[in-house]
Amino acid sequence: MKKAYIETYGCQMNVNDTEVIFAILAKAGYERTEQMEEANLVMANTCSVRDNAEQRIWGRIEVFNQARKKKPDMLVGIVGCMAERLKDKLLDTRKVDLVVGPDAYRSLPRLLEAIRPDKPQIDVLLSREETYADITPVRTDKNGISAFISIMRGCNNVCSYCVVPYTRGAERSRDPHSIVREACDVFQRGYKEVTLLGQNVDSYLWKSETETVTFADLLARVASIDPALRVRFATSHPKDISDEVIETMAAHDNICRHIHLPVQSGSSRMLALMRRKYDREWYLERVAKIRSVMPDCGLTTDVIAGFCSETEEDHRETLSLMEEVGFDWAFMFAYSDRPGTLANRTMQDDVPADVKNRRLNEIIALQNRKSLERYRAQIGKTVTVLVEGPSKRNPEELCGRASNNMMCVFPAPGLKPGDYAQVLITDCTSATLIGKMA
Ligand code: SAH
Ligand code: SF4
Ligand code: F3S
Repeated sequence: MKKAYIETYGCQMNVNDTEVIFAILAKAGYERTEQMEEANLVMANTCSVRDNAEQRIWGRIEVFNQARKKKPDMLVGIVGCMAERLKDKLLDTRKVDLVVGPDAYRSLPRLLEAIRPDKPQIDVLLSREETYADITPVRTDKNGISAFISIMRGCNNVCSYCVVPYTRGAERSRDPHSIVREACDVFQRGYKEVTLLGQNVDSYLWKSETETVTFADLLARVASIDPALRVRFATSHPKDISDEVIETMAAHDNICRHIHLPVQSGSSRMLALMRRKYDREWYLERVAKIRSVMPDCGLTTDVIAGFCSETEEDHRETLSLMEEVGFDWAFMFAYSDRPGTLANRTMQDDVPADVKNRRLNEIIALQNRKSLERYRAQIGKTVTVLVEGPSKRNPEELCGRASNNMMCVFPAPGLKPGDYAQVLITDCTSATLIGKMA
């Protein structure tokens, strides 16, 4: 048996794809290893979303080639979004044998066969159909409690800053029967939580001659598998999250009370330039709707600081929106100009780096304060936590998530991963709830 080692960068979809890749590689006679030095095949599953993500990979290619010096038959490959974006530029470096895009993983066995020292192989064709629906991911996730299931691939939006539509291709939804089958299968194998994944899950749509399945329908089907199976999903798009989805969540106790709803900016002028297809008022109305139906729903977001032409006034609107909504948590980024995107072709990346960073720091400082407020508001409540494993800080204690996605640590002798616990929250930091068994 040959051995394959894969490093994964970027989003959860890449983590999932790495499992798909291992399943395909198994057919080609490769088993997984965690040790790069002993691998016959070393790969990075890469991300292109920001420039620093790509810079990191160039460094890793150097490291892989150092390891190859000690093991000359080692093959080096780049897969994922950066493979798609840079295509033969990666081969030109002569430091990789294999370049495979996100829709071409089925051709890995054939490509691996064809590699010769002077003949690197590339397949970066994007597909309108590929969803890997029939490939059972290897499930190398550590805890054995929560599984991720891809329900769609690609993206049909053209947010002007974003490279994803170019690296992942057009949006396509996976057959709901194969999704439900996979969820049933992981539940039978002891998993207690599934997270349904897509760039914009709200636009999930599957049609056959006999049925039309929306995201709300799919959520209801997965939630009906068993009340002891928790259901999560990401990412929601503010322009597409429907009342039907919000009401379906409310109707099922086992659909977790958490929505990741990236706002990107609080300024309607910026949102229009970003081509997000909603404005500040629309976003705030969606938040109000969610909170009116599920007052306890956790809300998290993504924010970009310093997009093209952003003024201090635009920036203050982002801060005031964050103040008003009070997100539990946020991913916050400085805008990174990506070659080939609409913004790159038609706008000026004209906010100086120091201004971008200062605005980003203000956004981060505000969010830290808000997170602490949101976590503090949980003190005194009793929440249901799904135990994931020992706490990282203190192995005597357990950790797991509340329905609203907040991480919680608490002492619970006798409980094990996969158990549900009623936990009384007694204290917190800005990222962790601290509690005891209720
Ligand atoms: N599909 C999701 C997000 C995918 S990318 C959505 O529509 O929200 C994850 C996050 O990366 C985005 O939400 C955005 O905040 C950030 N991002 C994407 N492109 C970026 C860029 N060029 N510069 C900085 N951040 C970016
Ligand atoms: Fe990118 Fe927009 Fe698609 Fe999200 S919805 S992946 S930000 S283009
Ligand atoms: Fe990155 Fe590709 Fe995901 S660009 S964020 S790995 S879809």
